[in-house]
Amino acid sequence: MAFELSQETLDTIDKVIPRYPQRQSALMMILHAIQKEQGYLSLEAQEWVAERLEIAPIKVREVVTFYPFYREKPVGKHYIRVCRTLSCALNGSYKICDRLCQELDTKPGEISPDGKATVEFAECLASCGTAPVVMVDDDMYENLTEDDIVELARRIREEEIK
Ligand code: FES
Repeated sequence: MAFELSQETLDTIDKVIPRYPQRQSALMMILHAIQKEQGYLSLEAQEWVAERLEIAPIKVREVVTFYPFYREKPVGKHYIRVCRTLSCALNGSYKICDRLCQELDTKPGEISPDGKATVEFAECLASCGTAPVVMVDDDMYENLTEDDIVELARRIREEEIK
């Protein structure tokens, strides 16, 4: 299937490019806009961006593979990141990830069978003082206990988190 974007995302991209003196500087903003719509950045998307910005496809790839917040694989409806850096690891993040996966019937990096979630480890999410922390899409959940994880997974399964 040909690569397509919604009119809204195309409009966003059209507005972003003229804000920069050099069009290639809009690269990261465009990648964010596409990932927001599609959940990840396919090779077709990366090629489309290279063409749109008149740069070599390798330049897009370098950026996509360098920054951990860009994804190259499809994810579930909710993208859940479990911090595993020191403070969070010492406060039980590995157990949290296991429990979250158990509750959502999935494995790290995979889409849950109901399509509602992908759980992955992440490096420091910049909230070490409130470890352990988990991000669900753009929202941070802090000082998590095992009970909190069970409740969080229930809310995701029952679509209380939109
Ligand atoms: S160590 Fe987890 S937020 Fe920094």
